[in-house]
Amino acid sequence: MTLKNKVIVITGATSGIGFQTAMDAASAGAFVIGIGRNPQRCEDARLIIINHSPDAHVIYLTANLASQKQIHSLAEQIQQTLDEHKLKAVDILVNNAGMYMGKKVFTEDGIETTFAVNHLAPFLLTHLLLPLLSQSASGRVITVSSDSHYRTSFTPEKAKNPSLFIGLFAYKVSKLSNILFSNEFNRLHASNTGESVHAFAVDPGLVNTDIGMKETGGLASLVWRSRKNMGVSPEVPSKTILFLADEPGLTISTHIYWHLCKPKQPSVNALNPALAKRLWKESCKLTGLALPEGY
Ligand SMILES: NC(=O)c1ccc[n+]([C@@H]2O[C@H](COP(=O)([O-])OP(=O)(O)OC[C@H]3O[C@@H](n4cnc5c(N)ncnc54)[C@H](OP(=O)(O)O)[C@@H]3O)[C@@H](O)[C@H]2O)c1
Repeated sequence: MTLKNKVIVITGATSGIGFQTAMDAASAGAFVIGIGRNPQRCEDARLIIINHSPDAHVIYLTANLASQKQIHSLAEQIQQTLDEHKLKAVDILVNNAGMYMGKKVFTEDGIETTFAVNHLAPFLLTHLLLPLLSQSASGRVITVSSDSHYRTSFTPEKAKNPSLFIGLFAYKVSKLSNILFSNEFNRLHASNTGESVHAFAVDPGLVNTDIGMKETGGLASLVWRSRKNMGVSPEVPSKTILFLADEPGLTISTHIYWHLCKPKQPSVNALNPALAKRLWKESCKLTGLALPEGY
């Protein structure tokens, strides 16, 4: 692994897959910037990593990714952190933070929370960090999706406020959006323009974490409590994420969706360019970002 001295930003680095990835990246010598929404959990995670790898370079920043204002401030804090450490680039952004909502709740920006945290937050943060990712010789944007994205279709213009809210469906839509985003990102930024930043989406498989027991509530929470025990340890998806983070040959890979360090065929909808373009347009509208020229 050649992660030594690479700068890696990992969202949702306080538990589950994101925490394990932060731990593994730190022990491989990367400069880790972990993101969490709770300052105490951030500090606890940082201390565990430092205890495990005393020479680790690891910093935690706090932001609630349900708030676009906090995402903007987070991007500024990441720039400041780099300046303080005389670093120029973010080499890898891991959009890992994700959640499952049991009911329809709107964020302060007026957007259904699952769509806001699982899709719009990676969309906005990636754009805000793009100047720093472009400074890397081989920038990577890795978004943690899911095989929940199969057998899903949706209307991007309605995702902000779906008329019928079903937690599982909102989650599936957000995970499909992760792959559509990665594809369209590459079409706009990697393949056509020759820029050095490439996007990938990861299917972590079923992983033994507490994701289904947080904002879920009710029956879904009970089901997850027993189902999660059938999942693999977070070390398994961490390997795939860090493989995508630094494998040199991947800069010319056209594969977008990865599982167990190998490409996997995503759903037909995930590869639909018209759907990807509509989602991109809607995401620009909802985050206040400019549309690409001639879009
Ligand atoms: N577990 C699975 O079987 C599985 C399968 C497919 C895909 N995934 C995906 O894997 C990713 C990681 O999930 P996980 O299973 O590792 O779950 P997890 O243990 O609950 O970790 C999720 C992380 O995201 C953070 N987070 C949640 N909402 C946030 C917000 N509004 N702002 C900032 N951070 C927030 C959590 O913070 P706290 O520590 O404060 O809660 C935590 O650090 C997610 O994108 C999920 O969709 C998981």
